Amino acid sequence: MTRKLLVTSALPYANGPIHIGHLVEYLQTDIWVRFQKAVGNECRYFCADDTHGTPIMIRAKAEEITPEALIDRVHSEHYGDFTGFGIEFDNYYTTHSEENRKFSEMIYTRASEAGVITKKKIQQAYDEQEKMWLPDRYIQGTCPRCKAADQYGDSCDSCGAHYQTTELIDPVSTVSGNPPILRESTHYFFQLSQYEDALKELFKAGYIQDSVQNKLDEWFDVGLKDWDISRDGPYFGFKIPDTEDKYFYVWLDAPIGYMASIKNYCDKNGLDFEDLWNGDEYEIYHFIGKDIMYFHALFWPAVLMSANLRMPNKLFVHGFLTVNGQKMSKSKGTFIKASTYLKHLDPQYLRYYYASKLTSGVGDIDLSIEDFINRVNSDLVGKLANLASRSGPMLTKKLDGMLGTLDAEGRKLVDALIAAKDEIADCYENLNYAAAIRKISALADVCNKYVEEHQPWTTIKTDSEGTRTTLTAILNAVKVLTIYLKPVLPEFAVKIEQFLAVDPLAFADVDTVLENHKINKFVRLIERIEKEKVEAMVEESKEQTAPQQATQITLNEPLAAECEFDDFMKVDMRVAKIANASAVEGADKLLQLELDIGGVTKNVFAGISKAYKPEDLAGRLVLCVANLKPRKMRFGISEPPDKRRFCNEKNNRRNRAAG
Ligand code: 2FM
Ligand code: ZN
Repeated sequence: MTRKLLVTSALPYANGPIHIGHLVEYLQTDIWVRFQKAVGNECRYFCADDTHGTPIMIRAKAEEITPEALIDRVHSEHYGDFTGFGIEFDNYYTTHSEENRKFSEMIYTRASEAGVITKKKIQQAYDEQEKMWLPDRYIQGTCPRCKAADQYGDSCDSCGAHYQTTELIDPVSTVSGNPPILRESTHYFFQLSQYEDALKELFKAGYIQDSVQNKLDEWFDVGLKDWDISRDGPYFGFKIPDTEDKYFYVWLDAPIGYMASIKNYCDKNGLDFEDLWNGDEYEIYHFIGKDIMYFHALFWPAVLMSANLRMPNKLFVHGFLTVNGQKMSKSKGTFIKASTYLKHLDPQYLRYYYASKLTSGVGDIDLSIEDFINRVNSDLVGKLANLASRSGPMLTKKLDGMLGTLDAEGRKLVDALIAAKDEIADCYENLNYAAAIRKISALADVCNKYVEEHQPWTTIKTDSEGTRTTLTAILNAVKVLTIYLKPVLPEFAVKIEQFLAVDPLAFADVDTVLENHKINKFVRLIERIEKEKVEAMVEESKEQTAPQQATQITLNEPLAAECEFDDFMKVDMRVAKIANASAVEGADKLLQLELDIGGVTKNVFAGISKAYKPEDLAGRLVLCVANLKPRKMRFGISEPPDKRRFCNEKNNRRNRAAG
């Protein structure tokens, strides 16, 4: 029976470029959608740019353009990047649309009528110079718990504490550099806790993967809190009905953007949105990363419930990308933008590689550059493409491009491939692409063995018809393997379809056999990856944070509160050399540093692992307060200071805050 499916990927934020980390999700979704289409389901893929909020406003201001101009530009950049990777949306829209405004207002009005929106007065940080309210990420100060400097408004990188912005010591706005003031304002809250039971029922019914259930239990244990869905102006977003200067928080209207993209598509294609979104004919699936699970597992369904709208069927949650076992790094050149990748490499390599790593779990996937090169060259080029290039040109050049018929042995080979159809389809359906690729690769091995055994390059000299029979088996095998690979490698599949002179292949075509059929001239399918090209891509992705520039940025930082000369005299500041740096197990922000201070070794825990990799630090010079009292931390004793100044650190954090 044909299923009707609506599929979404998370809406990328419109203030930065698409990078290879994002692509894990879009490729995972695109492969699933292509698979669904290949098995004959009616599947449509929707996305949009997520365009509202303070970061967009600040970025537009910095670029001296309007937010509208910024999001228009980014929209075409994002769309170009996705298209470059063969990601095929049925509609790629924007959250800054009339459809989205209307849906947001409608949902808010229904939630208000349902009595789950409350108003509360809250105190919030405000930048008087910039005349704007400051989200936590735009405030820095000293951690109220461990006194580490330069911590964000809501949590401390050094000791991991979470706190209210009002508790931060000596806070400053990172927009103007001035201390923010506290101002009272009325905000609108969505009462999430009203939906606790309904959400639990939804999860029981299969809305989430089993592997994320524990995380949700933790959230339920802590208790569901009211969610602030409003922001004060100036804010780039939708005004809340019947208010003067209140806007929907970007995270309220972002998922509503899924609906808006579908509505826009329906209007353009003469379909009734109500049938798609609220009817029971369609299944709805959201692909997301694990970092935005709270929004999609709790807020989103609860908001839909409050508005009496239907529930999506399921969330598919994936993990993050690491490169060479580590977070993507700008200094190492592994923070690779989609557009940079496309300048250097064939997108099919990444599609194939990610597919070969993706499972249904939420674990991170690693792109090891060496493995990437080896796997693409040995499996994709060496095994799969090679099968076609060893047989196709021989048939067209020496045997008029005419396939013969299968003999018993050829039939056996092709049947063995056909027999894997259901298993491979299950792997795709259940997001176990890695298993699908393993199976396909194993089948390609069987085919290559057949080629080796039959040696068509030898038999062609003496037995042309026997060779035609052999090549017929191999090219039918190529056809079946191509069908299996098509969701991952659509471009490769199109070339094979042209060369085999067949209509676009669907899963059902696995069962048909090409016999006595004329094929076209062979075209090269895919080239080997050249290591130099990968190196050039990494080189181009490297962002140097020059020490001079970084020092300047550090000096431009607002100064800490004045201290007395006597206090200053107590501080014994020394230059120390990092002898050794290592990660701290169980702490995601700390590094353990062994500092050599003129022959004396001190052990320090520093909350800098987001900005530095341990292996980059050995040998670097840092300033430290050599006589700071030792302090017991959760992971051991930190001997000297909290106030080390790593000249690049601020710069790096700035980039993150803006992104
Ligand atoms: O995390 C992000 O990048 C968000 N822009 C995702 C939004 S998904 C949906 F809710 F719109
Ligand atoms: Zn702290």
